Amino acid sequence: MCGIVGYVGPQQAAPVLVEGLTRLEYRGYDSAGIAVLNPRSTAHPSRVVRAKGRVRDLEAALPARLAGTVGIGHTRWATHGEPSERNAHPHTSYDGRVHVVHNGIIDNFHALRSRLTADGIELTSDTDTEVVAHLVARELAGGLAFEDAVRAAVAQIDGTYALAVTDVQNPDRVVVARNGSPLLLGVGDGEMFVASDAAAIVRHTSQVVLLDDGDFASVTADGFRTFTADEEQTARAAVTIDLTVEELELGGHAHFMHKEIHEQPESVERMLSGRLDDRFGTAKLDGLNLDPRELRRFSRVKILGCGSAYYVGQLGASMIEDLARVPADAEPASEFRYRNPIIEPSTLYVVVSQSGETADTLFAVREVQRKGGTVVGLVNAVGSSIAREVDGGIYLHAGPEVAVASTKALTHMGVGFALLALALGRVRDLSFADGKRIIAGLRAIPGQIAQILGDEEDLAGAAKELSEAPSLFFIGRVRGYPVAREGAQKFKEITYRHAEAYPTSELKHGPLALISPELPTVAIMPADDLLERNITAAQEIRARGGAVVAITHPGVELGDAATRRIEVPRNEVELDPILLTIPTQLLGYHAAVALGEDVDRPRNLAKSVTVE
Ligand code: F6R
Repeated sequence: MCGIVGYVGPQQAAPVLVEGLTRLEYRGYDSAGIAVLNPRSTAHPSRVVRAKGRVRDLEAALPARLAGTVGIGHTRWATHGEPSERNAHPHTSYDGRVHVVHNGIIDNFHALRSRLTADGIELTSDTDTEVVAHLVARELAGGLAFEDAVRAAVAQIDGTYALAVTDVQNPDRVVVARNGSPLLLGVGDGEMFVASDAAAIVRHTSQVVLLDDGDFASVTADGFRTFTADEEQTARAAVTIDLTVEELELGGHAHFMHKEIHEQPESVERMLSGRLDDRFGTAKLDGLNLDPRELRRFSRVKILGCGSAYYVGQLGASMIEDLARVPADAEPASEFRYRNPIIEPSTLYVVVSQSGETADTLFAVREVQRKGGTVVGLVNAVGSSIAREVDGGIYLHAGPEVAVASTKALTHMGVGFALLALALGRVRDLSFADGKRIIAGLRAIPGQIAQILGDEEDLAGAAKELSEAPSLFFIGRVRGYPVAREGAQKFKEITYRHAEAYPTSELKHGPLALISPELPTVAIMPADDLLERNITAAQEIRARGGAVVAITHPGVELGDAATRRIEVPRNEVELDPILLTIPTQLLGYHAAVALGEDVDRPRNLAKSVTVE
């Protein structure tokens, strides 16, 4: 959702900024731009280059020489104003002195725009960001020092922001501010970086300073100073991040999505390491910060997440009900936060997020905490806002996920919920034997995923056939329903084909009317106690001329209820949905490839949804 990068140091800034933007492109990719300061040039003390489209379009627009060792850059995901060069960041003040890049939304920008226009300032873009450049310039013109001018401008803003600002008359620094959108500093040797996330700077340093909401920082080549809106100095120490450049490269795969799907056997194994307690048949989850007595105290579990994370949350809720016999449900965090939810002290709130920066999920955390509830997180991105604000949690350790369509992080969420359900179950009535059964099932998952990935060619064939249909259904019953929802989501977001999920049981209550030879159905049909019912539903589809691609278990007799079968190995019934989801990742992926779509960067989307 917009990526920010900044550089101050001895190197030429432009290449550092462009490389950083390339790594941040997953955050937004409708336009990009950089501003570089060059105090040695009287003709061009600063230069701004912006382009509609990808970072590669920006690169193509750059002049052969763009000298300067201080700069800021941005890759955009449009919120206010269409994707275009004039709406691309950096935005520049009326006097040319100030450049600004911004991630977030300025809620009072209409009022600020009107005020600036009334004062005779001409606005040249449709964005909410541009006002910030003018506000800072006005404060500078009033005689304030650069840092004070940024503080004074920010005091006039309502909303969320990560801001990086330059001033032509202070060409040795970048001033940044954070409220509700991620921002960190990278500490190099005689050089400093600013970035929305560490991926942008990992080639240069592994030392980062995670800024908090309300933080300002003034960044020069030899260091940084952090302070608050009241000009109080704050102490922010650098931490070492565990991220390598290789993790951000394609490594021989055609797409990041493909790479990430194939990383799962190894990454799940890594996630489980040290977390399974054979002695007591439970999970070791110290990060939850809840001892067994506290875990027992909860009489209900409420799971909150957005999009695919919410679907895995639904799956998690059924695991918790199955294994711990505690009532559990999942709700989109994006709805929860707006409905004045009743927060119960006896409910354990669990948020789930890959990026740890999803604004709706973060606000849900705050809503729970403000009302005195306990909220823990299943989060992938270490040090992210959600990870830092929750009362405890389980890190997913999936490693960086670059493709916009989430795959491996979702599998890790499923495994994370299984661990949580196991821990909750074992402080209640789940027997030691059942605990051991789940542990054995979890240990089998990495190998079983590898087995499913071994059938990729067959899955690619099925995907190609499905990609030819203008519309399709994904259906599943009870534990299979979240699998169907996620399958449909993956398919639609990268193929742009209409894919809709239904509970299998609901088909005959309306949607069956749509079944025809043109509308195939992907049916989740595991070998569980609902199989007979699922076969009946599939036959009803077949009787109306619809094709059925069944995702099922070996040995299941489907007869003519399915036109094609995809098999996944059996695990424990509670854990089966994790594995049943894997073929849907490959169906979506290969359908998008067959259609020639831009798999890793689907239109209109961004990886990290840090706006409302
Ligand atoms: C779909 C997808 C999204 C995310 C959702 C939540 O492939 O990636 O639906 O699951 O935006 O994102 P996180 O998990 O970062 O909170």
